[in-house]
Amino acid sequence: MEHTGPGQTKHPRLKAWVDDMARLCKPARIYWCDGSRGEWDRLCQQMVDDGTFLRLNPEKRPDSYLCRSDPLDVARVEHRTFICSNSRDDAGPTNNWAHPKEMKATLTRLFDASMQGRTLYVVPFSMGPIGSRIAHIGVQLTDSPYVATNMRIMTRMGQAVLDALGTEGEFIPCMHSVGAPLAPGQADTSWPCNPENRYITHFPETREIWSYGSGYGGNALLGKKCFALRIASVMARDEGWLAEHMLIAGIERPNGEKTYIGAAFPSACGKTNLAMLVPPEGYEGWRFWTVGDDIAWIKPDDEGVLRAINPEAGFFGVAPGTSDQSNPNAMASLKANCIFTNVALTDDGDVWWEGMTDEAPAHLIDWKGRDWTPASTEPAAHPNARFTAPLKQCPSYDPAWEDPAGVPISAFVFGGRMSHTTPLVYQAFNWGHGVYLAATMGSEKTAAADGQAAVRRDPMAMLPFCGYNMADYFTHWLNVGRRLPNPPRIFRVNWFRKDAGGHFIWPGFGQNIRVLEWVLDRVHGRGSAIESPFGWMPRYSDLRWNGIDFPEERFTEIMSVDRERVRQLELGADDPLDQFFDRLPKEFIYERQLLRSRLWRSPAHWEPQR
Ligand code: GTP
Ligand code: SPV
Ligand code: MN
Repeated sequence: MEHTGPGQTKHPRLKAWVDDMARLCKPARIYWCDGSRGEWDRLCQQMVDDGTFLRLNPEKRPDSYLCRSDPLDVARVEHRTFICSNSRDDAGPTNNWAHPKEMKATLTRLFDASMQGRTLYVVPFSMGPIGSRIAHIGVQLTDSPYVATNMRIMTRMGQAVLDALGTEGEFIPCMHSVGAPLAPGQADTSWPCNPENRYITHFPETREIWSYGSGYGGNALLGKKCFALRIASVMARDEGWLAEHMLIAGIERPNGEKTYIGAAFPSACGKTNLAMLVPPEGYEGWRFWTVGDDIAWIKPDDEGVLRAINPEAGFFGVAPGTSDQSNPNAMASLKANCIFTNVALTDDGDVWWEGMTDEAPAHLIDWKGRDWTPASTEPAAHPNARFTAPLKQCPSYDPAWEDPAGVPISAFVFGGRMSHTTPLVYQAFNWGHGVYLAATMGSEKTAAADGQAAVRRDPMAMLPFCGYNMADYFTHWLNVGRRLPNPPRIFRVNWFRKDAGGHFIWPGFGQNIRVLEWVLDRVHGRGSAIESPFGWMPRYSDLRWNGIDFPEERFTEIMSVDRERVRQLELGADDPLDQFFDRLPKEFIYERQLLRSRLWRSPAHWEPQR
């Protein structure tokens, strides 16, 4: 097989693996990526020529492209995602499981000649600063040039990684095929995929990833959920660190005090927004620094401080709802050098999506390539349409993103999308209670995953991303904190509570800084709070209200605890924690009892007093 492309390696095991996989997949050629600008230009041009990419108006959106996926391939497919550990119990009740031998047999059959007529791209990438003690390297083999170009934005990709690997460096092998071989003379489609036959599979014991049939997002950009969460969570368990579905942000007060937080929210619940928050009126002199918007790798240092890096180098963000009002920093990040997937096209060659402007343009081409007007009944952009943008283009980009040592984490914030019951903010009594709060977090359905239930428990926002038994993951969390002299404080937040009329009570977005200021105050031992059945809560007077009109009645409404609702939600007969049986940490049984008894003693309707 002919090896082409500028990427150079001296790694015999890597070369042998690529040859093996090429023998299996039978591509027309092999191309080694070097991650250069010239390579990006060539690949993008090639995709423009074959109709996969549409070059956007260079005056409006320089060096940016629109891509439309197959309508059957638009989001992560959790029901086709598997953890293939030797024992089913090691995958746990929340993951799909298959025996590694059986799955390997299935995959070998599927990958056989799966790349016929296509190019196999060798994509070497580093998750995190090359050489960092927290970073790790992967090599993805893919027959999708769309994936190769996305990986150049989302990771540190190319020759520098091959150089770092040297002759025998460790890497995670990541196999990917869209599963659409081309017979000689067969015409290609603009988004080849195989929706009937998708397998997103992980082998935690051998630390391998095999993904077949999808070209979209987390199914196909294997550095992201597959490596940086599912496989990395297993590595983290074995090695004493954490791989989390968290944004990382630094919050700087006018006096220069800078505090980093890690915040976990389920998919499409506001991590990108919170990661690049713009301080509102009343917060002059405050600065918000973005380290990451989706994934955090967190490791204790020699002093016992938890240090976090963002393993990624770009944003793969939800486009709909992103506007100059809701997230000006995201909008500024999208000015150039971006890939847009499943958004709408304007008549002047730019992009549009629902929520970008108050009024929709009079005419668009929708994400399926059809004419669209405001009278159309379907949205112009798919609800899970995404932008791929370089992190460094974000105006709030934190240079600490490059620091191989990582940033010190002082607080963990966990939040779901809960229309009822869950208050705006509260603090755990201690580490163990905090882990319990994070593990019992719930959230309502979004467009980021296909076929998700209306409300589900999403422990630590990791339900679809934990590569092993979640009960063991809870135990691991408890253990990590126990070994630290001063573990980060843990908080729960909920921006999404609604009033009787169905409107969000909390204005959210930039205003979330008011909640975070209280979080920082608690971290630094300043802020006061009262005890509630859930945890420590701020009173109205504990938050700062200059620059906003948010009456105390609304605050009381969003902080109140309705005993019956909580009992149904948290302690109902079919408690989802029960599925873990005796693998559940004992601490959780006690935490549940303590919550029960606190609720038992509290009024039927609890409100923070003045
Ligand atoms: P993934 O990239 O899927 O992991 O998700 P993410 O958490 O980064 O999602 P993102 O930030 O893109 O979430 C976008 C959705 O959250 C949109 O529907 C926003 O309107 C909504 N959102 C974000 N912040 C807030 C907020 O403070 N209040 C309310 N009500 N909605 C918010
Ligand atoms: C998510 O679904 O949480 C994402 C998008 O961040 S994807 O990369 O597709 O998983
Ligand atoms: Mn995510």
